[in-house]
Amino acid sequence: MFESVAPRPNDPIMVVMEKCKADTRPEKIDLGVGVYKDSSGITTILKSVKLAEEMWNREETTKTYVGTVGNQDFCKDMLELMLGADSQALKEGRIGAAQTAGGSGALRLGAELLKVAAPNATVWASTPTWANHIPLISDAGMRMGSYPYYNRETLGVDFEDMLTYLDGHAKRGDIILLHGCCHNPTGADLSPEQWDRLAPFMEERGLFPFIDLAYFGLGRGMKEDTYGLRKVVQTCPEVLLAASCSKNFALYRERTGLIAAITQSSEKAKVLKSQFGAIQRKLISMPPDHGAALVTRILRDESLRKIWVEELAEMRERVLGLRQLLSEALNVQGGEAMAAAIKNQNGMFSTLPLSPEHTERLRDEHAVYLMPSGRINIAGANASNIPRLAEAILAVH
Ligand SMILES: Cc1ncc(COP(=O)(O)O)c(C=O)c1O
Repeated sequence: MFESVAPRPNDPIMVVMEKCKADTRPEKIDLGVGVYKDSSGITTILKSVKLAEEMWNREETTKTYVGTVGNQDFCKDMLELMLGADSQALKEGRIGAAQTAGGSGALRLGAELLKVAAPNATVWASTPTWANHIPLISDAGMRMGSYPYYNRETLGVDFEDMLTYLDGHAKRGDIILLHGCCHNPTGADLSPEQWDRLAPFMEERGLFPFIDLAYFGLGRGMKEDTYGLRKVVQTCPEVLLAASCSKNFALYRERTGLIAAITQSSEKAKVLKSQFGAIQRKLISMPPDHGAALVTRILRDESLRKIWVEELAEMRERVLGLRQLLSEALNVQGGEAMAAAIKNQNGMFSTLPLSPEHTERLRDEHAVYLMPSGRINIAGANASNIPRLAEAILAVH
């Protein structure tokens, strides 16, 4: 039976990871994989998570199933965190949500719901977007299209082109997939003023926002990183939100996330929640419990929450500090545009104007590993190797 099955090509990120792992040069710099690392290059478990785990281990009484929509306390706490406790949609019970297996599970569940609600619509994604958006959404059966977003020359968002393109191509009822903050892979986010224009633009044209919020808290701050989401929820009648706790709680392998549908009535919210439950049932039956139980514990316990807020700030400030250092180091002849972009962009990622050949030279001649697209994860650097990193980038550029 398996004779006809051919191997699939390796994911480019896995290729970079494997090559980096095999490299014995001690000075190597790994800017490939998209996880946060501390200054020693380690993705540690947060102290708040460890403490919550200790408590949870003492208190947990059962391992029975969590149900198809998962931990609803977790969903409520996360929605409060993202939308604010004063959110009208929350107060009025107009949000149907389900806990999912990470942000990826949330995106898939959202796409499956779209297949039920709007099977003939197109989901428009930014150019570029997170590579996994395409299979997660199109394998659910949704047609996908792309709108202009990142300009590889100015290293900023082509906002006017984005609006003009969507105006000409997206039809009423189509879905606009948006990165809530810390755009992956470019780091180029919409400004508050651009969100202020985009939200009514979508509302007037009957376009449906699908917001992926995978890095909130790691950009400029919790409030700043959820500005766009809040604006869209206040403006558009219906919104789909996929959120992840992988990065901001460093819970990567615990697969912790949620999907939420913000609607016009509490009755509709119940309908959508039941859809999420039924869809999840046929995909994975039920989400895993552990990560969501920890997040709930952290958000509900004052002292744990305080520790987490501080840990999140520390991660964010480290990334901002590295951006500042790399920007300063690149700010010499020929590197000015990169320097300015790196300083203005948000989160762990930036896409530099480097070709696959440049990235190969960086790897072979300088032991610097990054994606062939030019995407770097700034958290993979540290203060001591930034001068060498900047020199290497400028040497191949
Ligand atoms: C833009 C974006 N969305 C969603 C995710 C999903 O994250 P996870 O499934 O690990 O929670 C990621 C992870 O890299 C991402 O970069």
